[in-house]
Amino acid sequence: MRPSTLLLACASSVLGASWIAPGAVWYDTKGAKIEAHGGGVVKRGDTFYWIGHASSNQTPMLYTSTDLINWAPQGAQASSVTGMWRPKIAKPNGSFWLFGQQDRYVLSLKSSNQIGGYGQSAKVYIPPNSYSYSDTGMFYDDSTQTYYLLTSADHNIVQVNRINSDGTLGDKVSDLRAGAYEAPGIVKADGVYFLIVSGKTGWRSNPNKVFWSNSINGPWAGGSDIAPQAQNTYNSQNTFELTVAGSQKTTYIYMGDSWDSKGGASSNYVWAPMNINAGAHTVTIDYHTMWKVDPNTGVVSYPTTLKRYEAEHAVLSGRTVVKDCSNCLTKRSVHGVRDASEVTFHNVTGTGSRQWLSFHYKVNSPEAGEAHIYVNDEPAVNISSLNSLAGYHTSTPVQLNLRAGDVNTITFGATGGEGFEVAVDGIELFEEDE
Ligand code: GLA
Repeated sequence: MRPSTLLLACASSVLGASWIAPGAVWYDTKGAKIEAHGGGVVKRGDTFYWIGHASSNQTPMLYTSTDLINWAPQGAQASSVTGMWRPKIAKPNGSFWLFGQQDRYVLSLKSSNQIGGYGQSAKVYIPPNSYSYSDTGMFYDDSTQTYYLLTSADHNIVQVNRINSDGTLGDKVSDLRAGAYEAPGIVKADGVYFLIVSGKTGWRSNPNKVFWSNSINGPWAGGSDIAPQAQNTYNSQNTFELTVAGSQKTTYIYMGDSWDSKGGASSNYVWAPMNINAGAHTVTIDYHTMWKVDPNTGVVSYPTTLKRYEAEHAVLSGRTVVKDCSNCLTKRSVHGVRDASEVTFHNVTGTGSRQWLSFHYKVNSPEAGEAHIYVNDEPAVNISSLNSLAGYHTSTPVQLNLRAGDVNTITFGATGGEGFEVAVDGIELFEEDE
């Protein structure tokens, strides 16, 4: 490596990613894929702590960040604890606590440090003793009280329990008996409590719902969608809601898991701001392909385009044809992309390290085939392995390592069954904002 290349590489691992892109593969500050599934986030001082389970063995994993984008891995938190699903950090008092579900019991771990050294404190069924628990969640009420949210595996009841000031699990304060729901999270806005839950469809995403109450003690009412039904909550399942109370604005963030077919390593994360109308008792996801929130001001922003590479100006092969496209930027796109019919973009600008770019393309049926790319002389990669939402929206952001300068070649292709149709609009690059 030449010294200048080395410098660039170091700088990039410090600066890292600058946007939250729901569904895309997210990397930690050391370059590994983030493993914090079914997780939750708590802020102490200027630091956000993201705890979640490892997809391989469900041991609790911790990451820290000051901007909700660049996450430093703090490793596994309990040396021998596995099979602990959906861990959450309880607001510590004296000790530090992790709560989760193991073998359908409530498991709590305790440490004298915030990072590392957690060991089992209790593993209990909580009253009613006949219930077994599945998905669990947590809610911090105005940073003073902490509540544990439980889903009974066998009774279809979502319940809210107090976490006592000594860290132990306390009494039930309310429950939701409205059907088969799981994956609970609560957010409070303008005095109204909102309980977000998913349906029970295993790893497959479904339209998640919101219930509301004027008190944490219930009763819970409502049951409206948090996203258009056809989106299946942007292919995700709720795990936690985070409130960023900034100097200019309070931003409420939906955090969901975009599970693969078995909750495995290719599962990703879908985070998005929420629009909350406390008077109308509605919560809806404000979906954007890329966004971020300033943790100090609470203001949400979006990237601006640096450049676009239009497919109709690229090198076309095989049976591709340029057609009109009313939703495309230049009103034209390239149809018929598949097998030996490809679109090759030359001279794409790279930074020499990992960067965001977005592929604008449309498929007629995301289940019927796969779009893929070749970057320079690297092997083909399916776009769906870089972003869980690939094929479902017309703009799909991914992080790629491109060479520095206007020297990159990206070929876009597709393979699929009879009738699978891909139309490529172009590639978008974004302004570096740091
Ligand atoms: C639900 C839960 C997940 C997992 C799967 C297993 O989706 O939310 O945490 O337990 O079921 O099917």
